[in-house]
Amino acid sequence: MILIDGKKTSSDIKSEIAARVAEIKVEGGKTPHLAAILVGNDGASQTYVNAKVKACEFCGFESTLVRLEETISEEELLKVVEDINENPEIDGLIVQLPLPKHISVEKVTNKIKPEKDVDGFTPANVGRMALNWPAYVAATPYGIVELLKRYEIETSGKNCVVIGRSHIVGSPMSILMARNGYPGNATVTLTHSRTKNLEEIARSADILIVALGKPHFVTADMVKPGAVVIDVGIHRIEDASKKSGFRLVGDVKFDEVSEVASAITPVPGGVGPMTIASLLYNTLLAAEKKVY
Ligand code: GUN
Repeated sequence: MILIDGKKTSSDIKSEIAARVAEIKVEGGKTPHLAAILVGNDGASQTYVNAKVKACEFCGFESTLVRLEETISEEELLKVVEDINENPEIDGLIVQLPLPKHISVEKVTNKIKPEKDVDGFTPANVGRMALNWPAYVAATPYGIVELLKRYEIETSGKNCVVIGRSHIVGSPMSILMARNGYPGNATVTLTHSRTKNLEEIARSADILIVALGKPHFVTADMVKPGAVVIDVGIHRIEDASKKSGFRLVGDVKFDEVSEVASAITPVPGGVGPMTIASLLYNTLLAAEKKVY
């Protein structure tokens, strides 16, 4: 069984990006600059944004963190996005989600200039990705694509089953696995909460991508022997034997599924660490004007 090590792969990618940034600086090119907008005081969002800023420092990027009050109006936030859109110093912009309830995520996302949308959330980038055009692909699907590539996992002609149809993982993943290219050329089944015979369909997968957000949902009897299993879930469950009182688990029962899979991503240390590497990579592409 091959353990797909997202922590190491993410670290390799960040080092590669840092090396490219060092070259850019020698060449007198544009140092990549990421701006992050954080609205309010949500604890998890602060942790994520801080990790993104720290990763920027590691790679030699410039970063700007714009912190805004929870009570900011939608109009004011749209104006902040607009200003960053027009700021030639800034290559990439992310607005950390979730936003307060009085603000429309659709309106704010749609305000971000596609050329700076390094989260890949705008309709322009989702559409370009679906058309197999150059695009900023969202961090989690892009991270999975990169793991499949770096572990040289064959996808052409394989049965790929995706569990979960979210806009940010399941749905784009199904498009990426079906498209003409590598990774891709798979026969894809996108399953969700209304799917009948899910266990049987999962068992037909050569590549099983699990992103439904239910701890330990996939058990060994749902996995074909030799399948490749990608676990996107991350959940805290209570564990009295841990000092912290909890441990992290995925959507897959790792202990038993790792006995039948040919390759599997662990949780933590699988897909999770890849997301920041993807964001940095998109920001590098933005600075080098490689997509638009
Ligand atoms: N909140 C949770 N994940 C993400 C992400 O990838 N990007 C942004 N902007 N917000 C998030």
